[in-house]
Amino acid sequence: MGHFVSDPATIRARAMETLFERLEDLCEGAIAIDRDGHVVYVNEKYLHSLRLGHISDAIGRPIEEIIPNSLMRRVAETGEPILLDIMELGGEQLVVTRMPIEDENRNVIGAIGFVLSDRVDSLKPLIARMGQLESDLRLAKRQLSQPRSARFTFDDYVGNTERIARAKELAGRAARQSVTVLLAGETGTGKELLAQAIHNASGRADRPFVSVNVAAIPDTLVESEFFGTVPGAYTGADRKGRDGKFRSADGGTLFLDEIGEMPLQLQSKLLRVLQEREFEPVGSDKVTKVDVRVIAATNVDLQKRVSEGTFRADLFYRLNVLTIALPPLRDCAGDLPDICARLLDDIVRSGDYPSAKITPSGLAALACYDWPGNVRELRNVLERALILSDSGRLAGDDFARILPGAEGKVAGPPVVTGAVVPYAQAEAAFEKRTLEGALEAANGQISEAARMLRISRATFYKKLAKFGLAVSDSSPV
Ligand SMILES: Nc1ncnc2c1ncn2[C@@H]1O[C@H](COP(=O)(O)OP(=O)(O)O)[C@@H](O)[C@H]1O
Ligand SMILES: [Mg+2]
Repeated sequence: MGHFVSDPATIRARAMETLFERLEDLCEGAIAIDRDGHVVYVNEKYLHSLRLGHISDAIGRPIEEIIPNSLMRRVAETGEPILLDIMELGGEQLVVTRMPIEDENRNVIGAIGFVLSDRVDSLKPLIARMGQLESDLRLAKRQLSQPRSARFTFDDYVGNTERIARAKELAGRAARQSVTVLLAGETGTGKELLAQAIHNASGRADRPFVSVNVAAIPDTLVESEFFGTVPGAYTGADRKGRDGKFRSADGGTLFLDEIGEMPLQLQSKLLRVLQEREFEPVGSDKVTKVDVRVIAATNVDLQKRVSEGTFRADLFYRLNVLTIALPPLRDCAGDLPDICARLLDDIVRSGDYPSAKITPSGLAALACYDWPGNVRELRNVLERALILSDSGRLAGDDFARILPGAEGKVAGPPVVTGAVVPYAQAEAAFEKRTLEGALEAANGQISEAARMLRISRATFYKKLAKFGLAVSDSSPV
């Protein structure tokens, strides 16, 4: 029989020491400060990461001199622990834990921090996830810091059938001049792609490419978004004044997507910029001059809007100097193999799949569908089929579950399960599926989804709310 200590006080005291020793053992470093943030303790192991030679190099110094972005002082001041955090030190990401140190009367007298070893297996997923988030963030930051660049070229606009070739030919001509261009085509037919390609092939290629989706800006903000504001024009957020898109695009190209949604009262101001290359920022009476080529895009029939009185005729004629019609995918069946091949290459290059191919039966299945969301929808369909495929070779069967039925409507009829449900319930299910299908085909863009269903944006929003479907109405730039 062994002899065990059972005295609670002893166990408690041992528990603390054990915890400390364990942690110190597991960790790659430990450091403690007093209430004033001066280092009172650091262990040998930590010295290397801190690039210090001796423990005495740290003792007595303010913590920030040793670890510039340390949060130890905050813990000592607030008494709130930070149980798990990631701290950067010398370019490395360290998992750290920080706790207040209290005296017998529970007054905070300092703080202690441990760097947990990244060899601890349970931390590996956390660290890997963090690494991933960091790299995503870097990418997003890079993209944000150069939002005014266009990446597509004419080679990216795939297809050789007559109408695609014609669009490409006209776009090539447009690139050689600075005329205003109108791109007309359904959602997902490559309007933004072609706008970028025109910019990149033009003399303005090394100047900004600025893209604005008119439909995504609330009517009341369109004017300041486009033309900017002078200091003091508004009380509140914009007190400092700011540049509008026309100024940001100076020397380059301004892409105005969904131009048909431009509020009527601002259309004359837009017309004036197109004609005179000048405008007045909101709140200013001084004329600003700009040199901007405008490429506008529409997926509605502007001529029809003119006859309905929601689009100014003079603006329409000004935009209609060089109109390029982008054909819908269903009219370019002959290009389906090339377009699929390109999209699959892109998907493979983005890294999730080692290989991706489509077989003739796969192509045949795709040719039966009428593609209301065009190439954007095709890309989504290919991606979804790949997720479900084991081989990366997409055949007809792989699309059977994904395509909404060969008759080509956005959502198929509800599946008859044998159970009879109340009519209202069946109707709601049908409605919800229809909304979801359209959203998916429009890549989450509400205005486009609404248009495909031929209902207003307001109605679409109401229905989304009814079914608790949340989406954001920003289009990818
Ligand atoms: N002819 C095409 N060849 C290759 N990719 C295309 C083609 N048309 C469109 N795409 C791709 O489809 C997606 C939607 O194109 P986008 O230019 O955003 O369409 P739109 O602005 O007309 O809605 C993009 O990923 C784009 O690269
Ligand atoms: Mg678009």
